[in-house]
Amino acid sequence: MSRHLAISTDNSKVCKYPDDLDPNRLPSHVAVIMDGNGRWAQARGLPRMMGHRAGVEALKTTLRLCSEWGIRALTVYAFSTENWSRPEDEVSFLMTLFERVLQSQLESLIKEQVCIKFLGDLEVLPDKLRELIDEATHSTSRNSGIHFNVCTNYGGRRELVLAAQKLAARSVKGELNPELIDENIFASELFTASEVDPDLLIRTSGERRISNFLLWQLAYAEIHITDTLWPDFDESSLKEALIDYQSRCRRFGGLDRINSNHLHS
Ligand code: FPP
Repeated sequence: MSRHLAISTDNSKVCKYPDDLDPNRLPSHVAVIMDGNGRWAQARGLPRMMGHRAGVEALKTTLRLCSEWGIRALTVYAFSTENWSRPEDEVSFLMTLFERVLQSQLESLIKEQVCIKFLGDLEVLPDKLRELIDEATHSTSRNSGIHFNVCTNYGGRRELVLAAQKLAARSVKGELNPELIDENIFASELFTASEVDPDLLIRTSGERRISNFLLWQLAYAEIHITDTLWPDFDESSLKEALIDYQSRCRRFGGLDRINSNHLHS
């Protein structure tokens, strides 16, 4: 595949972009609902767990490419608050998989300057996983590369309720006047407080739902839905999503330039 070199937006590194992507119009933040692991495995006569294992490889590729192409943040939906209702053996496989991936990948995350965070209600996760999460978060917190957010035991509604509780507690203590609560103050209590909102949401496996993911943050995201099952999501799938994103006219509720000029002429 032919590529051209360009300086990334933060001027700190030279990125290798595919020729058909405009380096000046890449999303800063990409969010992904990685769906279809189970169907991928079942289609091959394999246990569902093998789909999750293959999904990890797709995630590694996506993270590497987003980092190489200068995308500032990648946020993925790894385990939702609803996923606990899956069979016990699948839940326990997923928890062990997260542990193994963290253990095996930490060195490379550090080397690649990835800054990893886990977003969600982490208290209820197995102790060993929480320890590994703490270690990975601490040892990558000063890294200057891509922000990699892994939503684990995450639910969008739960996140909003927790934010409301924190704001209410501050108000009751007299630290915060409720009338002064605005969108910025509200957003500062979300798990994503330090992150810009996603510009692009990718959902694999053809489902057309948000599934309780980043309900606040996706307000103005462009949505790319592909029939590709997550383990099959590769470089060409990511490129297709980014090309689709670059074809969109983002208006954020306003008018595009052509219509706005027309109104004022
Ligand atoms: C959805 O597919 C996928 C998940 C619930 C798990 C996603 C997790 C990974 C890809 C592993 C990530 C690892 C780390 C360390 C972040 P599904 O099971 O709902 O598929 P189906 O809809 O075909 O049943």
